[in-house]
Amino acid sequence: MPINLIHETVTPDQLTRYARLIYDRTGIVISPQKRTLLSNRLRRRLRETGIEGYEAYYKHLSKLRDADPEWDAFLQEITTHETYLFRDETHWKWFREQFVAEVAEAARRGQRQRTLRILSAACSTGDEPFTIAACIAACMPNLSQWKIDVLGTDIGAGALEEAKAATFNERAMRLVPDDYRKRFFIKSPTATLWTAKPTLMSLVRFRQHNLMAALSERPFDLVFVKNVLIYFDKPSKQKVLDHLRKAIAPGGLLVAGAAEGVSDLLNDFQRLEPWLYRKA
Ligand SMILES: C[S@@+](CC[C@H](N)C(=O)[O-])C[C@H]1O[C@@H](n2cnc3c(N)ncnc32)[C@H](O)[C@@H]1O
Repeated sequence: MPINLIHETVTPDQLTRYARLIYDRTGIVISPQKRTLLSNRLRRRLRETGIEGYEAYYKHLSKLRDADPEWDAFLQEITTHETYLFRDETHWKWFREQFVAEVAEAARRGQRQRTLRILSAACSTGDEPFTIAACIAACMPNLSQWKIDVLGTDIGAGALEEAKAATFNERAMRLVPDDYRKRFFIKSPTATLWTAKPTLMSLVRFRQHNLMAALSERPFDLVFVKNVLIYFDKPSKQKVLDHLRKAIAPGGLLVAGAAEGVSDLLNDFQRLEPWLYRKA
């Protein structure tokens, strides 16, 4: 990278074009205030690729397919992957004590099959799907009689590779109750890393998916979409919710992060909690 680029930021015009490219492909809004941040992140890609300058990198990037490793590396730089197990305790208390209990009771009464399909959309490194799996493994009576499918999706291939490794550091594990740690995770002897046991691995799968596109999967009983739509504007949120609406089974539920800003876009759903919606 030329020395004069080290402290240089993208020009307002370059920022507009990068922001448009990101928005068109992901729904994420990059505001003009993010100019320095974007420049810092871009500089890392210039250093890695050896491409000389923001202009040349933009031209290169705009020609790449979504599946190109460089597009993914760029996405990894500009997206936030912050996540941890048992994030938002209220949701998990509800999930364990009400959702799983009610689903189990309905099956016991013969009112539903012993199948359960849950989507964790934009799951980053997998902490949310593994939390779902741990709660099910801990709370579902007669688990072996159930067909459980927890799908974690994310736009980032790198994040999903980490998710598949199912290894979490102490920070990601900090809210995991002690008995869950013992039952469902193995601590590495050399480092403070925890790996999910096969019980959890057998309940979870991952696939790459952009929320801006339809998801070709059978309908889910429950969908989590948390801490991702906060980066989207209203038209993008609308598009994502249109796809998710189709992914939820009739009577199925949607858990949205408290700051997702989706309540006025879900008027056809019954609002059970500020973060919980039921599809009619
Ligand atoms: C902050 S993490 C949220 C992780 C998890 N849902 C949670 O609440 O802890 C946001 C994730 O959204 C993903 N993401 C951003 N735009 C996306 C899109 N258009 N489609 C799918 N995933 C996207 C990012 O790759 C990132 O992993």
